[in-house]
Amino acid sequence: MRGNHKMKVLVTGATGNVGQYAVEALLSLDETVVAASTRTNKLKDMFGDRVEAVELDFEKPHTYESALKDVDRIFLMRPPHLGKPENLYAFLEAAKNHSIKLISFLSLMGVEKNTIPPHHKIEKKIEELGIPFAHIRPGFFMQNISGIHATEIKEKDEIFVPAGRSKTSFIDAADIGLAIATVLHDSEQHRNTAYTITGPEALDYYQIAEMLSQVTGRKIQYKKPSFLRYRHYYIKKRGLDPSYVNVTVALYFMTRLGTAQAVTDEFFKLTGRKPRTFMAFAKDHINDFDAQA
Ligand SMILES: NC(=O)c1ccc[n+]([C@@H]2O[C@H](COP(=O)([O-])OP(=O)(O)OC[C@H]3O[C@@H](n4cnc5c(N)ncnc54)[C@H](OP(=O)(O)O)[C@@H]3O)[C@@H](O)[C@H]2O)c1
Repeated sequence: MRGNHKMKVLVTGATGNVGQYAVEALLSLDETVVAASTRTNKLKDMFGDRVEAVELDFEKPHTYESALKDVDRIFLMRPPHLGKPENLYAFLEAAKNHSIKLISFLSLMGVEKNTIPPHHKIEKKIEELGIPFAHIRPGFFMQNISGIHATEIKEKDEIFVPAGRSKTSFIDAADIGLAIATVLHDSEQHRNTAYTITGPEALDYYQIAEMLSQVTGRKIQYKKPSFLRYRHYYIKKRGLDPSYVNVTVALYFMTRLGTAQAVTDEFFKLTGRKPRTFMAFAKDHINDFDAQA
């Protein structure tokens, strides 16, 4: 059965890396989209009148009901600063009362075996509530390189990530958005499923540096910092929230153990498309690596 076009799809975190692409992919499938975040002005700037823009703040229960009105499918993401799984429970309980046909939660590769990241408990909570689900468990986003880690690339021609020599099967957030739209559009077919989706190849950061050098024409170097140097630099020099930096340290620790390197074909099986390569991504995002742009 194809998606129900009368009811709406709620996209949480619609201003974020994945949410913005989930919105675009759902609109391409002719779905009616309710785009949600804490900033309705930003939503209007990004999507104009192609979506219904609503305020949804997981920490403000009074915002839930207007976001959920006439919605029967949900893309759910956990904002990175909400570190406790419980931060999302009240919203999930409100969703439970809306006859939701499918909730697609942006989870994390390997979380079925790793109980530490909050995504593990959030998946379990969705299942316990009896809401039909399609968990999307992606590898690391290519957007980490063009986003949070682009500062040192732009300013110093350096990649400053404590991942040692480990490999990562980076995936483009646009591909994740497409996978999410696919399951939400064909909600019957994907009831109570989980997909681990990755990019086409596992790369170490020396290979990433080499590709960025080719694309930018500059010599980009991978610095391979220790955890302590990385933590100190990101907190003291970049001024980032220590609790956020600590989470990234834990993730890069896991990465060094090899947990981020698996390559799967589930994206292709789901969408019929090949996932984007890092080289193609770097070419498309060249301005993100250029201090003058
Ligand atoms: N980066 C990776 O490599 C990776 C890999 C696997 C899984 N993940 C998971 O992906 C998720 C992050 O996804 P992303 O990168 O697409 O997000 P993101 O770009 O960091 O954006 C966060 C979104 O959350 C919204 N938001 C912030 N505070 C909110 C609140 N109180 N209530 C409701 N919405 C709020 C923001 O919108 P406004 O600011 O407009 O409100 C924004 O749209 C995390 O759970 C992360 O663990 C990440």
